[in-house]
Amino acid sequence: MLDLKSLLSNYDPKAGTLLGAVPVERTLRDLQGCFADRAAYETALAQSNPLLYTVAAVEPARGEGDLHYGIGKIMPGKIGDEYYMTKGHLHSWRPAAEFYFGLTGDGVMLLEDEASGESKIVPLQPNGVVYVPGHTAHRTMNVGATPLTYLGVYPANAGHDYSTIAKTNFRCVVIERDGKPVMMERKKL
Ligand SMILES: [Fe+2]
Repeated sequence: MLDLKSLLSNYDPKAGTLLGAVPVERTLRDLQGCFADRAAYETALAQSNPLLYTVAAVEPARGEGDLHYGIGKIMPGKIGDEYYMTKGHLHSWRPAAEFYFGLTGDGVMLLEDEASGESKIVPLQPNGVVYVPGHTAHRTMNVGATPLTYLGVYPANAGHDYSTIAKTNFRCVVIERDGKPVMMERKKL
């Protein structure tokens, strides 16, 4: 049925909101175990529990071939040398790919092939589109001084697997060196 409510939405790129989607908030406490510098994490958390990011998704239909989409907003900031970031996830249905469209701010996506562990960082910026292939863990971080917002579009049956990342984390971290984001292997930190 061609119901206008399911055909059209509106997003606010500055606010990082999407009409009809309820934002989920993630604070520093929610990212327990994500940041490499545990001492810096505990020190920061002892002082406050800031909002790190929000995500809001429109997930209307679940049929084969349907698409879902969402908007994300990541605040600027760091824990130690590591940028504020999302938890990161794989898709429950591993072949599911995803597009990320940069809206505002200056971001980086960390991509990791699940089978080989090969990792890459890709800029996520206004007018830029990042293609996340299937079977690839993805985490987004704000490497700028203003909020980062982006849209994501993914198959309706992709699903989100956060637990695999929660157990093993990403092989690499993205840290600031000389004012720029640099990818390093976690074990070499
Ligand atoms: Fe995803």
